[in-house]
Amino acid sequence: MNFEFTEEQLMIQKAARDFAQNELLKGTIERDTNKIYPKEQLEQMGELGLMGMMVKAEYGGTEMDTMSYVLAMEEISKVDNSCSVTMSIQNSLICSGIQNYASEELKKKYLPGLASGEVIGAFLLSEPEAGSDATSQRTTALDMGDHYIINGTKNWISNGKYGGLFVLIAQTDVEKGHKGINAIIVDSKSDGITRGELEDKMGVRASDTCSVMFQDVKAPKANRIGEDGFGFKFAMKILSGGRIGIAAQALGIAGGAYELAVKYSEERSAFGKPINQHQAIAFKLADMATKIEAAKLMVYRAAWLKDQGKDYSQASAMAKLYASEIAQSVTSEAVQIHGGYGYVKEYHVERLMRDAKITQIYEGTSEIQKIVISRGIGKGDLYLPY
Ligand code: CAA
Repeated sequence: MNFEFTEEQLMIQKAARDFAQNELLKGTIERDTNKIYPKEQLEQMGELGLMGMMVKAEYGGTEMDTMSYVLAMEEISKVDNSCSVTMSIQNSLICSGIQNYASEELKKKYLPGLASGEVIGAFLLSEPEAGSDATSQRTTALDMGDHYIINGTKNWISNGKYGGLFVLIAQTDVEKGHKGINAIIVDSKSDGITRGELEDKMGVRASDTCSVMFQDVKAPKANRIGEDGFGFKFAMKILSGGRIGIAAQALGIAGGAYELAVKYSEERSAFGKPINQHQAIAFKLADMATKIEAAKLMVYRAAWLKDQGKDYSQASAMAKLYASEIAQSVTSEAVQIHGGYGYVKEYHVERLMRDAKITQIYEGTSEIQKIVISRGIGKGDLYLPY
């Protein structure tokens, strides 16, 4: 087993860390409090190559591996999760989905704009009555020969307001169940698309989450990703990769809170010495560090499996399940170590604690991860070595 990173991976990690600490940190509290969309920051991330990290150079991407992406996601997520959720969706769901499954024509048309960050993508799967139960799609995309006509409502859409490109999951043939579902690229400015108000969320407050309504929206048939009826499998496949991104986000949230707690506990004194010299605090930090290390092994392994071209569905579900769980406990302990200071915005840990919760919900709740994991049991793909 090789636990060392390559020079390139370390370089990317450092570049993402420097950017997060120098450029993102200063505005996070204001953006979070006032739900200000991080437009300028996302543009900068595009310029840095963080929006199409696994996209091939021929389509305008930076052609890196999943491990590099995970390391960068962690660093951005230590600081600003409204930015990192968009980075995750853009890389894992939108760019990877198009690169791996769309036609050559669609790749050439859409990937350069997405990889540069000029166009932000949104993934439209969830509906008012189809969240975890993703096969129960009510949104329809009726086959009209050379185009689809789309009607329905999508809920909880991250990048729903400012995203320029939608990857929409919709039902074309109800009779066929999940085999009648398609994934279609839709221009978000198409006639017939309206949006709900921005959701007033507990965490990742600066990211633009809203519902999106379709009324007789037209999309070319050529914009379908894959064969007719491939849409549900497409969604499942890209979500398996997406879960590595969200697991990395959870890891970053835990790591960010841990770093702040370590720093605070060195600087803050009580009963005549820095608080980290008291066993009550030192043991908390020891538990936090241990949980983060365990989660890292799972997240990095899932990324490694993906980079090796091996099956990673169970590994990514496990990584997301565990990393999002420890993000809860680590951020809560970070607030505890900060005492009263931890409970106010200025010290950043309360925001990380709020952000941690969403990692147990989006791209499949923890309960969904357990479904995916349990279905893999006994199939020989849950344990090293390969
Ligand atoms: N790869 C390939 N195919 C897969 C697959 C995968 N990972 N998982 C399932 N499939 C296939 C199955 O093999 C099956 O195909 P066949 O019928 O040909 O055999 C088909 O898909 C149906 O699978 P299931 O019978 O397992 O489907 P199910 O109805 O039992 O549901 C589920 C499975 C795992 C619960 C799924 O519905 C699911 O993942 N739900 C959660 C959805 C989700 O993550 N939503 C998040 C919204 S997106 C988001 O959050 C983005 C954001 O904004 C941040």
